[in-house]
Order: sequence, then C-alpha cells, then structure tokens
Amino acid sequence: MMLITTLFTASLAMFALGDPNIRLPCSTISGTPCNCPVGTEYSESSTFAVLGATASDVGLLLNDFSNPAWTGNDPLTLQGPNNVPILSYRERNLSTSVGSYVFRERLMFRYESLIDGSFEQRFEQRGAIPYASGNGSFQGLWTTLKGDRVFQNQTLVEANIYACQTGYPINFAEYYQTGLANATNILTAVGLIRGVNVSPASVQLF
Ligand SMILES: *[C@@H]1O[C@H](CO)[C@@H](O)[C@H](O)[C@H]1NC(C)=O
Ligand SMILES: *[C@@H]1O[C@H](CO)[C@@H](O)[C@H](O)[C@H]1NC(C)=O
Ligand SMILES: *[C@@H]1O[C@H](CO)[C@@H](O)[C@H](O)[C@H]1NC(C)=O
Ligand SMILES: *[C@@H]1O[C@H](CO)[C@@H](O)[C@H](O)[C@H]1NC(C)=O
Repeated sequence: MMLITTLFTASLAMFALGDPNIRLPCSTISGTPCNCPVGTEYSESSTFAVLGATASDVGLLLNDFSNPAWTGNDPLTLQGPNNVPILSYRERNLSTSVGSYVFRERLMFRYESLIDGSFEQRFEQRGAIPYASGNGSFQGLWTTLKGDRVFQNQTLVEANIYACQTGYPINFAEYYQTGLANATNILTAVGLIRGVNVSPASVQLF
C-alpha cells in the first residue's frame, strides 16, 4: 500500500510537472506555477551545485531526511519511521527575516537509484504558521532535493523550492548555497571528493 501510494504520488507529480493549463492549489502534485492560499504570494527558488563525489556518497549525506545535519539545522523532533514517504515527519527551527519558526516537514517522496546512486527527496510544510509579529503567515513550502550522477566522480545537486507566504521572508538561495558548500566541506574532510566541485549558484524569482 505504502509503495503504491508513493508510486502514485510520484507519477502524478511527473504528470503535473509541465506548465499546467489549469493552475491547481499548490501541493506536492500540483505542478508549478500553482495557486497559493488567498493573501499569500507564490515564490520559487532553485540552487545548483556540482559535488566532485560519487552520487551514492553524496546521497548518503544529502538523501537522509531524518538527519539533515549538512544544513546546520538538526531536527528538534522526528516522528514516524526514518525516511519513509508519507509517514516521516521532522520539526526544525528555521531562521527567517521575520523571526525563528518551527516548521513541521513531511517526507512525500524518496528515491535512490541502485544502479548509479542518483537520488531524489521531496518534502513539504503545509498549513498556516502565523508570523509572531505582524499579520503575515507561511502557508506551504515544497522542496525537491535531487542528486544526478553526471560522471563517476561528479554529481549535480539541485534544490528546487516553491512556497506560499506573505512576502519573501526566507532566502532559500542563501540557505541552500550555505548548506551545499558545507556538504562539500564535509565530503572533503572524509576524503570523498575525487572530482571537481562547482560552487552553488541560484535562480530566485523574488
Ligand atoms: C555543517 O555541517 C556540520 C556537520 O553536519 C554541522 O554541524 C554544521 O552546523 C553545518 N554548518 C552549516 C553552516 O551549515
Ligand atoms: C529557535 O531558534 C531561535 C534562535 O536561535 C531561538 O531563540 C528559539 O528559542 C528556538 N526555538 C525553539 C523552539 O527551539
Ligand atoms: C497586513 O499587512 C499588509 C502588508 O503589510 C497590509 O497591506 C494590510 O493592510 C495588513 N492587514 C491588516 C488586517 O492589518
Ligand atoms: C574517480 O575517483 C576514483 C577514486 O579516486 C578514481 O579511481 C577514478 O579514476 C575516478 N574516476 C574518474 C573518471 O576520474
């Protein structure tokens, strides 16, 4: 059942990935652009980097939803089993330009290629989190983190995010650039960088 739900979600997500004719409310399977709840603004952000390591080594560090230490934000709590789509949740305290907030994130999809080590993880934050001061809120945040084997010791990593918020209080580009630079340092420290690193760069439309 679990597997079927996951495959179903994944195939819907792929189906919806293009430019939808009808905009759906933002969700894991809505595709983009999508409709944000009234009063919030849609935003999207992409960050890319090449890590000079094998995709499976990069995946060991990055494709662990339950232990995202490379981001510098350890979970405050974990709920459900580790790394099982739909069932795994984590709460993290993230800093934004309007204060620190505890975001409850749910793993929606997770894949790892047994053939070449390429990987993908999607997670979401849903529901309204009101700002501590002022009248805004966070109303959804969808993240896809991917690692593609390019060559034996070259892995292209992408963090793609769309979100519904009041204004643009989270600098996703800065967050993932810092995290991916940190991931490169961690892999270097344990001797797993064998290729060429390309520093993170971002496209952020706000
Ligand atoms: C880098 O990763 C280390 C080890 O996982 C973690 O302790 C640290 O907080 C991270 N630093 C940043 C700036 O993300
Ligand atoms: C979240 O982090 C901020 C800033 O470091 C801190 O002041 C706050 O107490 C933390 N909140 C929780 C629930 O850990
Ligand atoms: C909420 O904030 C927005 C933007 O700052 C402002 O335009 C609006 O009038 C505020 N609404 C209320 C009910 O205070
Ligand atoms: C990848 O790294 C390994 C270990 O250092 C090395 O043996 C191999 O030749 C490298 N592959 C390429 C294509 O450079």
